[in-house]
Amino acid sequence: MSANPDTVLTTDLDIDALRADFPILHQEVNGRPLAYLDNAASAQRPRQVIDAVSHYYGSDHANVHRGVHTLSQRATDAFEGARTKVRRFINARSDKEIIWTRGTTEAINLVAQSWGRPRLGEGDEILITWLEHHANIVPWQIVCEQTGARLVVTPMDDTGQIRLDEFERLLGPKTRLVALGHVSNALGTVNPVHHVIAMAKERGVPVLLDGAQAVPHMTVDVQDLDCDFYAFSGHKMFGPTGIGVLYGRESILADMPPWQGGGDMILAVGFDETVYNELPWKFEAGTPNIAGAVGLGAAVDYLDSVGMSNIARREATLLEHATRVLEEVPGLRIIGTAPGKAAVISFILEGIHPHDIGTIVDHEGIAIRTGHHCAMPVMEYFGVPATARASFAFYNTEEEADRLAEALVKTREMFA
Ligand code: ALA
Repeated sequence: MSANPDTVLTTDLDIDALRADFPILHQEVNGRPLAYLDNAASAQRPRQVIDAVSHYYGSDHANVHRGVHTLSQRATDAFEGARTKVRRFINARSDKEIIWTRGTTEAINLVAQSWGRPRLGEGDEILITWLEHHANIVPWQIVCEQTGARLVVTPMDDTGQIRLDEFERLLGPKTRLVALGHVSNALGTVNPVHHVIAMAKERGVPVLLDGAQAVPHMTVDVQDLDCDFYAFSGHKMFGPTGIGVLYGRESILADMPPWQGGGDMILAVGFDETVYNELPWKFEAGTPNIAGAVGLGAAVDYLDSVGMSNIARREATLLEHATRVLEEVPGLRIIGTAPGKAAVISFILEGIHPHDIGTIVDHEGIAIRTGHHCAMPVMEYFGVPATARASFAFYNTEEEADRLAEALVKTREMFA
């Protein structure tokens, strides 16, 4: 069975009705209606998520897995119920495969330290790509320093796509793990993950996908992908901050030691011996982000009600429109032109620093991100210190893209 059965089988989403679910979108910024085009950094929350968190704190909060009293049981049910929702959403086989983390970054660090550190040695290789977010570079550099392993980087081409020929060449007898983004946060490139995973599997190499930018925008089915690890964050998928998920194949997680010790990750503690808890709790030391999990469960319900394939189609239409109007802005160059991109447009405007662009369009009520997007190697590849980036969600409109284009034309005129 595949994940995310769509409940709405039309491309004609009622965008006004969906926007009405997001209270934050209905405000003026600097005297203009807010156009929020920074969804890749963090998306906004529908009232269904805000209400779920508020209801949890107002009615059900207590610590989980610890009390026989009613509130503790309610909190535990809400917390574990959210895990089941997430498991269904990405079509994992078992709740044991869903580990709560603070976000994608913590999930990748968990794998680096718990899976990588005990297994890696001198000369072993971790194969990543040039397109990675720092969260999928630095944890591997740390574990390489600790173990003597080596980080190997697959190059990309001028459109922002990984070089599959190079990937195949670099995937060698020393490769112990492949780690790559499903969707690039800096460029929007959707990586050919099925192909990459098939090549790695042929050689018996496990694969970790950084799905932070994919899960909010497309159907993700970890069984269909056949990846070994999949990491993502709540706040980019319309849920709370400070909560995220590591999916891991159960047989692999079972063989991994805990990475943090403390309460809840044990079955019995003695000074001579401690028995660790079962999956998934073995990896969840300390009181978890219960409200975050509840909110993420509500976000998953919300996404299911809109329908992930509807969202993907809507965003493709938006991207096409936005690309067309931005390409008409004099002096604008889009960085990252891979076909089939996610709805992310990174760009530069000739002669104007991206930070100036961001500040000027903010005066028009338009929120975009500027900087290196936590992907400095990507910036280096394209020979720019930074880009401006507009990143869209299903609740954005063509009119907002038009406003961005108009604001950029004005920006150019100011610098002429
Ligand atoms: N990784 C986030 C971004 O792309 C913060 O903006």
